[in-house]
Amino acid sequence: MMTLDETARAILTGNDRGGYTVPNGRVYPFQWNWDSAFVAIGFDSFDPDRAWAEIETLFRAQWDDGFLPHIVFWKDDEGYFPGPSVWGTAFDPMTSGITQPPVAATMLRRLWDNARARGDAPAFRPRLEALFPKLLAWHRWFRDVRDPDSRGVVIATHPWETGRDNSPEWDAPGEPIDVSNVGDYVRRDTSHLDAKMRPTKLEYDRYLALVQFGRAKGWDQAEIARTNPFQVADVGMSMILLRAHRDLLALAAELGRAEEAHELQQMITRAEGGIDWLWDEDKHCWSSRDRLTGRFSGFVTSASFLSFYAGLHDPLKDAAMLTHFERIGAKVQFLMPSLDPDDPGFQMIRYWRGPVWAVVNYMIGLGLAECGYDAQAQRVRRDTAELMRRNGLYEAYSPIDGTGSGGDDFSWTAAIWLAWARDAA
Ligand code: DGY
Repeated sequence: MMTLDETARAILTGNDRGGYTVPNGRVYPFQWNWDSAFVAIGFDSFDPDRAWAEIETLFRAQWDDGFLPHIVFWKDDEGYFPGPSVWGTAFDPMTSGITQPPVAATMLRRLWDNARARGDAPAFRPRLEALFPKLLAWHRWFRDVRDPDSRGVVIATHPWETGRDNSPEWDAPGEPIDVSNVGDYVRRDTSHLDAKMRPTKLEYDRYLALVQFGRAKGWDQAEIARTNPFQVADVGMSMILLRAHRDLLALAAELGRAEEAHELQQMITRAEGGIDWLWDEDKHCWSSRDRLTGRFSGFVTSASFLSFYAGLHDPLKDAAMLTHFERIGAKVQFLMPSLDPDDPGFQMIRYWRGPVWAVVNYMIGLGLAECGYDAQAQRVRRDTAELMRRNGLYEAYSPIDGTGSGGDDFSWTAAIWLAWARDAA
């Protein structure tokens, strides 16, 4: 019988395709952006060289303007839809035309801190030097292309960019998307997984309509940002980018890059000054907001709890979020559900409408611990470990009874076990 450590390592090495790791061989057979960044911290627990390679490979697919795609199609695979021919981007390697939550700087900082702690920072320093400008270019891209109102938030142009594909946060902003010309297509996700866990047909039609829109614009990101029918300030990406700016600033300081440090400090100041645009005073929570209508989603989701990870220290808002934390914690066996269980739309195993994701728990737990909310941080970490011990390393889990949801043998869940959950108190 393998230990969970051994199983987790075997998942990562089994999903390794040579320099990059697929999230799950059947459901997600390519390199995904934020998956890879989390996967790197898992590899780092037993193979640091391979950990750095994961992020290096991802950035080999960066476009000239700094944009970093959400999928890199290093090799085609018919088991996935929509594949490279549907996206039709003109980049080599083939990629999708949208991005994903920018966790890479934060995970790279962790790799660097670990290298220093092991005493082998000199060996990794040239690799850090090479990656730093690429990360900075991506952060600049967010500032220049995805923050048209200079508020210090991130405007998502596709639900898949947020990583929380079918969160109810996208229902109202998705209504104006015209799906009448989407045409026929065959989904592959529902042949691998129970349709009860997956987004609905209407949601998929909207995903595809947005892909077709971007393709018709020749994936001109500035034009898409101006004219896309879906433009939502995502609370998750906004908090994650603010946090990533702070980590990139720390790396700039390590490398003695004073000018870049100054620029990053300006990005942080802008985000700290503008992020209150995502505070919903009626619902007393952080939530996403439609840029086109100004309307809040009004949902308490797991992303609402990323304010701690973002390093926002606002006593009144923290207290309000901790009240939500206690209320939700009393309702579920395992924190943190992707949707408030008091919401009528809560579904315990349908993607992003209920299940718990280990990567989100990692960010929430880290943030709570850094802000001194130790009891809450420990609960999130213990619940994550318990889900994995009882059920194996699934993509996500029911917060009610721990049932695995989505793919099994999931790379980023294995990584979070190795890098964080296994040491839960
Ligand atoms: C999918 O295909 O379901 C992915 O989540 C897109 O990133």
